[in-house]
Amino acid sequence: TIMKRCAVLMLCMVMTVGLFGCNLSVNNGKRIVRIAIAQSETHPEYLGLVAFKEYVEERLGDKYEVQIFPNELLGSIQKTIELTQTGAIDFAVAGTANLETFADVYEVFSMPYLFDSVESYKAVMQDTDYMENVYESTDSSGFRVLTWYNAGTRNFYGKKAINTPADLSGMKIRVQQSPASVAMMQAFGAAASPMSFGEVYTAIQQGVIDGAENNELALTNNKHGEVAKYYTYNMHQIIPDMLVGNLKFIQGLDEDELKVFKEAALKSTEVELTEWDKCVEEAKNTAHNEMGVEFIYPDITLFKDKVKNMQQDMIQKNPSIVDIYNHIQKVNKRIGEEK
Ligand code: GCU
Repeated sequence: TIMKRCAVLMLCMVMTVGLFGCNLSVNNGKRIVRIAIAQSETHPEYLGLVAFKEYVEERLGDKYEVQIFPNELLGSIQKTIELTQTGAIDFAVAGTANLETFADVYEVFSMPYLFDSVESYKAVMQDTDYMENVYESTDSSGFRVLTWYNAGTRNFYGKKAINTPADLSGMKIRVQQSPASVAMMQAFGAAASPMSFGEVYTAIQQGVIDGAENNELALTNNKHGEVAKYYTYNMHQIIPDMLVGNLKFIQGLDEDELKVFKEAALKSTEVELTEWDKCVEEAKNTAHNEMGVEFIYPDITLFKDKVKNMQQDMIQKNPSIVDIYNHIQKVNKRIGEEK
């Protein structure tokens, strides 16, 4: 699109000028802080980022201006991570699957049925002391996670109804571009087709794939419900998205500024979590009532059974996930007992 081309052009200019020493990241004496997000302006994460922007500008507005680039304007999620890595932009929102190639600890989130419940998931993610170690795991790649956002529960959806895992056989299902996602889909018995998020709509529409797996907002915000009319609550993953920031930028902030950016990040998560629950409810209604999507509630144990060896397989292959896996199991147990 024209918008996209303009944004890319602008970014090229930023980078070229950067090479010659003068810096378009400064405007009227203010440092422009650029954040890329794949989602649209109505997505909970975008609303969280608006809160981030406001928080920073209210306190440091004489020095910083925060600009948010939604709708993959600056490219796919993978691309925007790279832009954050090099410092062409300062922040990007990325799913954990996209981070696996930078730090293999993130593979843990791709494990099917890792969290016993949403409560357990939230308890783990809100434990900032523990998560800080995970957040620092991409330091060697030049970026660090500042906070997390709820990206919901992932479920299968497609052009035909998926009632049991047997229905998946022979289907081509889009997965995120990560080895663990491919392995999971193979275990479920479907053919895995890795591609970036922005390509999924057209791929379903044109029959290149038969379906995908994602949270409910994919149906509405990303319009996949127009081309896929069956959504099956098999609940294989509960996954966060991460706000990643260029490490030099973060480390270049003075103590007070860093405090503001960190508080802004926490604030954005608070807003996002509240908006998430609201938006998912709305998405279900819209998908069902206006887009004609049928929601299917299958026997989840059948799906669990298909992937039951995956957790142990993954632990054996990847030592980086052992600690967080055990940590999550403890939280699962504690929350389970409290219930
Ligand atoms: C969700 C999630 C993204 C992810 C996308 C995908 O939208 O929030 O982080 O990249 O799904 O499936 O690619």
